[in-house]
Amino acid sequence: MISVENLQKRYGSFTAVSDVSFHVDEGEIFGILGPNGAGKTTTVESLQGLRSIEGGRVSVLGFDPRSQAAEIRRRIGSQLQESALPDRMKVWEALDLFGSLRTGGRDWQDLLADWGLAQKRDAKFGSLSGGQQQRLFVALALANDPQLVFLDEMTTGLDPSSRRVAWELIRRIREQGTTVVLVTHFMDEAESLCDRLVVIDTGTVVAGGSPQGLIERYGGGVRVRFSHADGDLSWLLEVPHVSDVNRDRDRYEVRGDGPVLAYVASALVARGIAPVDLRQERATLEDVFLSLTEEGST
Ligand SMILES: Nc1ncnc2c1ncn2[C@@H]1O[C@H](COP(=O)(O)OP(=O)(O)O)[C@@H](O)[C@H]1O
Ligand SMILES: [Mg+2]
Repeated sequence: MISVENLQKRYGSFTAVSDVSFHVDEGEIFGILGPNGAGKTTTVESLQGLRSIEGGRVSVLGFDPRSQAAEIRRRIGSQLQESALPDRMKVWEALDLFGSLRTGGRDWQDLLADWGLAQKRDAKFGSLSGGQQQRLFVALALANDPQLVFLDEMTTGLDPSSRRVAWELIRRIREQGTTVVLVTHFMDEAESLCDRLVVIDTGTVVAGGSPQGLIERYGGGVRVRFSHADGDLSWLLEVPHVSDVNRDRDRYEVRGDGPVLAYVASALVARGIAPVDLRQERATLEDVFLSLTEEGST
């Protein structure tokens, strides 16, 4: 659906994107994750032909955004980070307008129902809540029945429960056969939704892969924790898959890889120690992100 090789984009003498490469396959939810200012919006807007591109090879649905932006825009949906509509425009008017941009677009009555806006059909844009406006923007992005949709920070500004609703809606877009490019700075969102993602920092891709793959590669392994009051357990270092044993009074943290939990549990029990709070903690995408980006080093 998308292939990007060494994308470069400058604003005057400032290089916002210096080296971004990735590809997006049909039917996936692909994430672009990174701190504010990393170049995420610049990247996705360049792909849509909304910004000029200084270097690299880019193809979106087989078209070049430099010369074929109209072809691309006809086939994609886009919820831009800085979206706005006239306050007095009614919900149905906006859907009707966006749907008319392509013949054979979706019936906007269905979109109203899908996105929980049926009651708001005649409401003015300016009277909608933040969450309703956000859902309207996504509905508008889908109004031309796109093959590919770009969602840029669509859950920013939503309260936690509206975010969860939005996640379900994003999954539903994919189920209906549309490929999704999701731009976000929320790690939990990317971990929960994305099949694959790239992490961008200061205009460069610093890592890419599935959330689970990234966690295994950069998450610092597996941590096993438990409490034990008497005796010294430094012999745990001899147990297979254990790389490190740390103790803080009666609390132990054992680091290792793969099946370390099973080996530690079995070694403890074999010595008559059965901690009731033995548990494994997995790194999250947030740990990966902090170890990979400048936010983590400042
Ligand atoms: N139109 C512009 N003119 C000049 N600088 C810009 C412009 N748009 C973005 N930038 C700068 O480019 C960098 C990347 O911005 P952006 O792509 O919006 O990042 P993100 O979406 O990851 O937060 C930032 O430092 C931002 O200030
Ligand atoms: Mg942005």
